[in-house]
Amino acid sequence: MPQINDHFRLLKAGYLFPEIGRRVRAFQEANPDKPLIKLGIGDVTEPLPAAIREAMHAAVDELGDRETFRGYGPEKGYDFLREAIANHDFKGLNISPDEIYVSDGSKCDCGNMLDILAGAGANVVAVADPVYPVYVDTNVMAGNAGPADENGRYEGLIYLEATAENDFQPAIPEAKADVVYLCYPNNPTGAVASKEYLAQWVAYAKKHGSLLLFDAAYTAFITDPEIPRSIYEIDGARDCAVEFRSFSKNAGFTGVRCAFTVVPEGVTGTASDGTAIPLGELWNRRQSTKFNGVSYIVQRGAAAVYTDEGQQQTGELIDFYMENARLIREGLTALGIEVHGGVNAPYVWLKTPEGTSSWEFFDRLLSDAGVVGTPGAGFGAAGEGYFRLSAFNSRENVETALERIKAAL
Ligand code: MLT
Repeated sequence: MPQINDHFRLLKAGYLFPEIGRRVRAFQEANPDKPLIKLGIGDVTEPLPAAIREAMHAAVDELGDRETFRGYGPEKGYDFLREAIANHDFKGLNISPDEIYVSDGSKCDCGNMLDILAGAGANVVAVADPVYPVYVDTNVMAGNAGPADENGRYEGLIYLEATAENDFQPAIPEAKADVVYLCYPNNPTGAVASKEYLAQWVAYAKKHGSLLLFDAAYTAFITDPEIPRSIYEIDGARDCAVEFRSFSKNAGFTGVRCAFTVVPEGVTGTASDGTAIPLGELWNRRQSTKFNGVSYIVQRGAAAVYTDEGQQQTGELIDFYMENARLIREGLTALGIEVHGGVNAPYVWLKTPEGTSSWEFFDRLLSDAGVVGTPGAGFGAAGEGYFRLSAFNSRENVETALERIKAAL
């Protein structure tokens, strides 16, 4: 028998969202006539914008013609898409198309990035608490953490508490972390990071030689013009930060699959003999060995996001979900519930009423209101006593969910 990767055995029970799915299925089997509204996983509900569909249809037709047929594409993504991304998302930020790597998802890229870094505890890793579970679980798999304690915190990881008191911008640690995960707009709290705050992280990274892994999957939902959309708006970030972006939430691609990661030339890591190696070289090597790129059809669809029509139509999608977020925020506030987020992000982070635990509140909302959310404790110890509602749903479902919550509480 082969030896397994023992680190997997350190992982706490299932990944959060499958665990929620399990509880929801059990409830539905026991109550088949109770219709549920799902505001749990942040999965989009609205159809693909016309500009994107038209571009994808045209790409299908190209593939149906011998003259324009294409086989394997470049592993990094087609020039037309990487150029559109650089010119639009990073305009004036000195990011070249060569530094952009198109992929099938930010979750995959965040996890796969650990392939090019030393594992087995060679790097000290810092994460926020609450945290998008992928950052933690992939580090456990890579051997960068020891067993979890009774609060579910893994030995060896640095946890940075994000609380209402610190505006969900955790204090910069004294200790040195080699790798720091930052996610803004934040999943799960819906908080954003100021320019000053991100500048402190860049200064920290420069001082300690750390790598910042900046997850900006929700950047399109920022409404406040003062809030940075990219870590590269901060001077010096080109030398220490990798940024993850996705078409999942802004363009409705959770099922279509397309994302990209920016690895600027200046970002390096150290080999065991002390040589500095550009991480972009290693990432390119990793991707070209293990990944064959995103389909041409999907990349044409993603590029259509950057056309005038695409910008207008994806803008409408974003406005639609942010109106849901506003309704959720205001509806809950009217019930006397403390809410955070939902202004520059599609997630509302609410304090569970009367000291109910996150999972108790989950069960209560499920059984009494038929509404599914995500228990804050599932994102980490500091998420206990909080609950996340996603703004990704139809208007009708959001309105019905709010009425049902009101009746249940
Ligand atoms: C979430 O609900 O946190 C998201 O769906 C996670 C993801 O995009 O993977």
